[in-house]
Amino acid sequence: MTGNTLSVPAVALGTWAWGDSGQPGDGYFGSRLSESGLREVVEKAQSNGLTLWDTAVAYGMGHSETVLAKALAGRDRGEYQLSTKFTPQLAGDGDDPVADMLEQSLDRLGTDYVDVFWIHNAADVERWTPPLVPLLRSGRVRHVGVSNHTREEIALADRILGAAGFRVEAVQNHFSLLYRGSERAGVLDYCREHDVRFFSYMVLEQGALTGRYDPANPLPEGSSRAAVYNGILHRLKALTDRMAAIGEDRGASAAEVATAWAVAKGTTPIIGVTKAAHVDGLVRARGIELADAEIADLEALADDADVDTRGWWEPEM
Ligand SMILES: NC(=O)c1ccc[n+]([C@@H]2O[C@H](COP(=O)([O-])OP(=O)(O)OC[C@H]3O[C@@H](n4cnc5c(N)ncnc54)[C@H](OP(=O)(O)O)[C@@H]3O)[C@@H](O)[C@H]2O)c1
Repeated sequence: MTGNTLSVPAVALGTWAWGDSGQPGDGYFGSRLSESGLREVVEKAQSNGLTLWDTAVAYGMGHSETVLAKALAGRDRGEYQLSTKFTPQLAGDGDDPVADMLEQSLDRLGTDYVDVFWIHNAADVERWTPPLVPLLRSGRVRHVGVSNHTREEIALADRILGAAGFRVEAVQNHFSLLYRGSERAGVLDYCREHDVRFFSYMVLEQGALTGRYDPANPLPEGSSRAAVYNGILHRLKALTDRMAAIGEDRGASAAEVATAWAVAKGTTPIIGVTKAAHVDGLVRARGIELADAEIADLEALADDADVDTRGWWEPEM
């Protein structure tokens, strides 16, 4: 990501689950993540050119940012890109809650700028977009993106920034085989037409689409993701089996096929890696080209599963 153009690797890395590490009960994901394990993840990702790290204050209330900074410590700032968010629901009551939240994130991240700063959701586009302008002017924010915004809300945010000579350069929405609202609602088309990078999140449905979890081996009991997905795992089997079969011919796993699908749709997946082996998978996924017939087959099986995985925080697209 250099100069004025947003340029990013084919796959970005997500650190929501990293906010769990060290939490009592292992937090939202129920994963046991160690500092040394996450350093290994960073090491492997960075050496394979996967250098864009997505986080948010909302992930473990700052813990994800702190843990990420520790895992990246010692590297040259130019070697990696940071993407974090302003979450309207967590706004403080100072004069400029957007600038305040950014400053706190910069502090935790141990840096003086972020490569991409996102408005986490469209709680009030007219209120929360204008405060980004001085942050862009100061260089504390290099690029702006909006997340969980509809097509109309993206266009509104873009008009507001446009009046000051800036633009919305990126969109970040839930987009997976199971949840294709952004495609149906024309958000992907909007991004293509306006040269806006679309980042897809929860491509693996928090593990449910990796083929690693099934009714006999569910997501960690007691975690929030288990509450969402364990009851529907039995409906995903035909899809994950097909993903695994497509992957087998290419020496890849179901998760890698899901990632390759998101790339084939013209998006930049943000994958929530928690283990170094996941990074090996992403490196393989970058090289997988799915045939149109395979894509159609996977989407048909996903439709047959007939599940709604829209997050509680997401608007109808
Ligand atoms: N803007 C928003 O509102 C928003 C919302 C959600 C997510 N996000 C961003 O998008 C990122 C991705 O979403 P997510 O982390 O919620 O879910 P995800 O990427 O769909 O799934 C992550 C889970 O899948 C497993 N996994 C990851 N990579 C794997 C691989 N290569 N092979 C096999 N299993 C793999 C891990 O589970 P195990 O640990 O059990 O192995 C991990 O916890 C987040 O970290 C965050 O940065 C943004």
